[in-house]
Amino acid sequence: MTHFSSVIPLEIIPSDRAAGAEIRGVNLLEPLSPDVQEQIVQALANYGAIFFRGQSLNEEQQLTFTRAFGDTMGHPLAKAEHMSFGEGSQSDVYYLKDEPDLTYIGKNKLKGAVMWHTDLQYMPEPQVYSLLYGIEIPSKGGDTLFSNLVAAYEALDESLKQRIEHLQCVNWILRTMPPVVHPLVRIHPVSGRKALYVSPTCSRSIVDMPPGQSKSLLRYLMRHVTLPRFVWRHVWQAGDLLMWDNRHTLHCRTAFDLCERRMMRRTQTAGEPVIPA
Ligand SMILES: [Fe+2]
Repeated sequence: MTHFSSVIPLEIIPSDRAAGAEIRGVNLLEPLSPDVQEQIVQALANYGAIFFRGQSLNEEQQLTFTRAFGDTMGHPLAKAEHMSFGEGSQSDVYYLKDEPDLTYIGKNKLKGAVMWHTDLQYMPEPQVYSLLYGIEIPSKGGDTLFSNLVAAYEALDESLKQRIEHLQCVNWILRTMPPVVHPLVRIHPVSGRKALYVSPTCSRSIVDMPPGQSKSLLRYLMRHVTLPRFVWRHVWQAGDLLMWDNRHTLHCRTAFDLCERRMMRRTQTAGEPVIPA
């Protein structure tokens, strides 16, 4: 007897890079069926970052979509990161707009650029999903780049994989916040695959490793994870909803002319413990 599945596969168009896919044919204004929700979770586990083009979402609609993937949360550094709160009482919605140069997180002084990072790595339970909705897009630049940390881990040679597999890393973003220790290699709970968990903005030292060795290992890994072969670039259009999985991606933003406006609406889902390899 033939069984027909009632599950309609989503139209997923992967990029030709190590991360990124466009998803078409989903009405984000309607409640997601469990099948569609599950396919989106799988797409995020496979591609790290996905986007839906041509959307028209207000705050409440973006929050409702976000909540299909977990509880929403505020941002502990909303003020420092030049976010403004949503309208009304929506404290889980932020607007990134007219951003000054965020040089406090690095030496890169490109205008409007933000260095490679993964969201809230400096918290004990880093957030899982981040969503940005493009409202105003500059004519040039302000792209979001993603690095696939599973692909980066798998490309390491076997001896280095064994050497780092059970190491732990100290992470912090501001000295006024307590440092947190996370595994250097983590397991993605959906795919079961191993991913590096290292970023130039937060990863400071390896636990129980002499400072010189720790510094050179981290420097090597940070260069490795941002090699072009692991990176995909999202070039924004107004009406894009971009969503990514922080458990196996880094992201950064390219420079743009700060005389132009770039406005994004951001939501995010709550954190979870990092699963060590
Ligand atoms: Fe971010």
